[in-house]
Amino acid sequence: MTQSRLKLALIGCGGIAQAHWQGIKQIATRIDVTTVVDTNSTNAKAMAEQTGAHAYTDLQEALQKGSFDAVDIMLPHDLHEFAALQCFAAAKHVLLEKPIAHTLQSAERILAASNRVDKVFMVAEQAQYWSDVIKARELMDAGAIGDIISASGNFYDRVANDVREPLPWRYNLAKAGGGVTIDGGAHWIRPLRMMMGEVDEVIGVAGRHIPQMQGESWSRLLLKFENGSVATLACQNVLYAPGPVEMFRITGTEGEIQITGGRNGELILFNPDHPKGRVVMNAVEGKINSYGAELKDFSEVVLDAKTMAATPAYALGELRTALALYRSIESGRWEKVW
Ligand SMILES: NC(=O)c1ccc[n+]([C@@H]2O[C@H](COP(=O)([O-])OP(=O)(O)OC[C@H]3O[C@@H](n4cnc5c(N)ncnc54)[C@H](O)[C@@H]3O)[C@@H](O)[C@H]2O)c1
Repeated sequence: MTQSRLKLALIGCGGIAQAHWQGIKQIATRIDVTTVVDTNSTNAKAMAEQTGAHAYTDLQEALQKGSFDAVDIMLPHDLHEFAALQCFAAAKHVLLEKPIAHTLQSAERILAASNRVDKVFMVAEQAQYWSDVIKARELMDAGAIGDIISASGNFYDRVANDVREPLPWRYNLAKAGGGVTIDGGAHWIRPLRMMMGEVDEVIGVAGRHIPQMQGESWSRLLLKFENGSVATLACQNVLYAPGPVEMFRITGTEGEIQITGGRNGELILFNPDHPKGRVVMNAVEGKINSYGAELKDFSEVVLDAKTMAATPAYALGELRTALALYRSIESGRWEKVW
């Protein structure tokens, strides 16, 4: 494509659309949002006012009448396939929020459809652009902590408990495809894969402690990677503001890397040269900017034929890891991810 700017339609104008819009304004500045779509006319109108775009309440009508080359799909998980397939059929480039879909079958249909069209398809996973995780991997590759043994990740996410019928899609198992692991847990599974390599097998447990949440509201996974290293991952919905967490810890034969969470998050390296720990970088800013980095990447793949940071086939890994956990809960055994 020889254009210098990308006309984009935002499909779904709910919570995450705000983060994407901020990222477009601040970082992905070659994108022009010309069209917004939401079946909730209030949400569509509010987003149109913010962006200056034309609002639609029906995707098909937007595809017929709107002026845009690409779409950013930010819909409940069970609607990803419906929307992506319509957009591919209308010859649009597609950015699709994670997880690809709520089931493996649906995700595979989306991937198959994307392979039949000559358009860009990318899955939005902003953790791919977290600069602290990228730095941690660089330090690991440079031997800063020796041979890698293990990792841990902690994802604590506050949710509301005062929801009423009809349940929001995220609380509805059929619409979300699972609970905390398939949803926000994806943003912890991706960094573990980036730092530790591909996940081979998973075993774990999960439970529900939030009555309205039909999927699991907590899970504990033990992950075995193809290279023999291991990780534990805690995914936890909470009903209160959670206390400070260590987001990730990577342990090697000669040291450790910690990524701490919260507003004072830091990447800290411990090894024989830094027995008290060296603060390598701030771990907050790169996360705040990661939605913009993701949209910038997408725009450059479309406009400049750049290679995307992570392919959709790779992005299947978060969904497959969550599904392996769900199978493991049923079987009580290790389950293969791929
Ligand atoms: N990357 C992240 O950090 C992150 C965070 C939250 C959500 N997400 C993902 O983003 C997606 C959306 O989540 P959300 O939290 O923004 O949800 P949300 O419920 O806040 O927003 C979804 C919007 O889609 C609209 N909608 C529903 N059906 C529609 C249809 N058929 N056509 C057009 N609009 C329709 C709703 O009215 C709503 O405004 C999900 O895939 C979710 O996993 C990602």
